[in-house]
Formats: sequence, structure tokens, C-alpha cells
Amino acid sequence: MSPFLLTRTLPEDATEAALRADVHQGLTRTPKTLPPKWFYDAHGSELFEQITALPEYYPTRAEREILIARAGEAAAATGARTLVELGSGSSEKTRYLIDALTGLHTYVPVDVSESALTQAGQALVAERPDLNVHALIADFTAALTLPDTPGPRLVAFLGGTIGNLLPAERATFLALVRGLLSPGDTVLLGTDLVKDEEVLVRAYDDAAGVTAAFNKNVLSVVNRELGADFAPDAFDHVALWDTANEWIEMRLRSRTEQTVKIPALDLAVDFGAGEELRTEISAKFRREGVRSELSVAGLELSHWWTDREGRFALSLSVAR
Ligand code: AVJ
Repeated sequence: MSPFLLTRTLPEDATEAALRADVHQGLTRTPKTLPPKWFYDAHGSELFEQITALPEYYPTRAEREILIARAGEAAAATGARTLVELGSGSSEKTRYLIDALTGLHTYVPVDVSESALTQAGQALVAERPDLNVHALIADFTAALTLPDTPGPRLVAFLGGTIGNLLPAERATFLALVRGLLSPGDTVLLGTDLVKDEEVLVRAYDDAAGVTAAFNKNVLSVVNRELGADFAPDAFDHVALWDTANEWIEMRLRSRTEQTVKIPALDLAVDFGAGEELRTEISAKFRREGVRSELSVAGLELSHWWTDREGRFALSLSVAR
């Protein structure tokens, strides 16, 4: 096997078709919604990188702290020879894990972004010529076929991105992950934790306005890809804590009554003054909830590690 392989499991035009379907569905229902995955074009990914450096946005630093402290312990507990990373992006934090996995044979980063996969994959094999990297261009919320590599397998899903899924979507997703595994294989999952409302809201409504720009960027994505005429500044950024659901919600609130045209969908969308469009949920977790959701999917919680301030958790679970 050559050290770097890239496999496309998504047709070239699948992304565009999925965006059209999501935008049509989301903007013709009440309340209006758009899925968070459309934040991440090149500019949105750059804004997200900036978010991770903001003083208010603690999850990235907290997760890195845990990985630095626990990668060795996690690696030893898994004995993984294949590491699959879902939503790998820049693979930056994964390096701690890769470096700790002494018997690692193949790293399988999975992402919808071909550019992120190629960049991160090439850099990795340059430094670690002993390691096989088999990158998959794929939407990990849909069915996935893994390359035939040696077990045990470890699936990592970091960053707290599982919180962007609704509870029913999380159950489907975790069942799908379990389906990739054999008994004894493991899952390393990053989850942001329930905490003080003020701390949570500030993390999603920073003083410098980077998260506001990130939120509005989804409108620019729809403009560019579907020819829409959203004026991003005709919307205000809103971040709120939903106490009952224990999730942060990001919304875009229309400042005035306005109509937006989306030529590629042959659609005109009316917004009332003050009407809100939901662009993201970011669920926050408790240990018992994570344990129970994993268990339903056939995954047994074996380790639970948090940062020193108890803000974020990494859990390791074992396939039954
Ligand atoms: C990358 C999905 C984990 O939900 O905290 C950051 C995205 N949204 N600020 C999150 C995000 C607003 C982030 N995840």
C-alpha cells in the first residue's frame, strides 16, 4: 500500500445536491433552519480556526489539554492498529493520539473537505513515512465503508461535533459507528459539558464578533452556491441556551421584513421582522447521558476524562 491514498465515496456533485435539498427544506419550513455543516467553506473554516483561539471559546483548548494528558492511556487501552477519525479537518489534535499509538498501521481520516484531507494527509506521511494514510472523502453521517486494514480499530470523533446532531440523529450516528466495528474495538468521543449559562453563551457570542461572522457566513455560502441575494448584515447573530434541551442554539434574526431570492431553487423566501433562522444546535452533555446514549448503540463506556476545570470530556467506549 502506498503511504497516502485518497478515496472519494461522494460523487463530485453530491455536495451541491445536498446543499440545494437542505436549503429548500430548511427555508420553506416553520421555524426556518439550516444545517450547520454548510458553515465550513474555505472562509468559514478559517473563521472556525479563529474561534478556537478566542478567549471565550474554551472547548478546543480543554480537549487539547485532555489529549495531552491522556493520549498515552487512551492509546494503551485501545491497542489500535487502525485509527479512523470522523470529521478530521486539519487533524491537528489527532497528532497526540497518532503519536501515542505505538502499533498504528493505518490512519483513516474521513472528511467532506478534499483540501483538508490532502493537506493534513500529505503533511503526516512526510513526517511519518512508516504510517499508511488512507483518506476518505465522505459524509460520516451517511453510510461509510472502511478500507480493509488490521484491527483493533479505534474511531475518534473529536471537537464536540456530535453536539451538532439532534438526539435522534445522534442515536442513528452512534449505531452507524458501532456498525463499523467488531467487539473489542473502541470509540473516542469528545463532548462539551453542561456548565454555567453565561460561560456557554459567551463561547457562542464572543466580544470580537468572530462567531457572528461565522454564523452569517452560511448566508454567503448560499449566495455563492445557489445565486441567492442574502444581505448578511440584514441579520443579527443570536446565541441562546435552551435549558430544557441543554443545548446552545445559534440563530440569525432578520432585522426587517424582507424577501430573499434563491434562483437555483426558483424560490423566494419571506422573512418577517425579527423572524429567526436556526443555524446550529450545540448540545452539552453529562456523563450519565453520554454513557446511556453509547450503551443504546452497543458501546460500553470504559473511560471518562475531563480537563482540570471539568468543562469538556473525552470518553472511551468499547464495542460489545
Ligand atoms: C466544531 C461543531 C464543535 O459546536 O462548538 C463554534 C462549532 N459553532 N462556534 C461547536 C461552533 C459556533 C463547534 N463544533
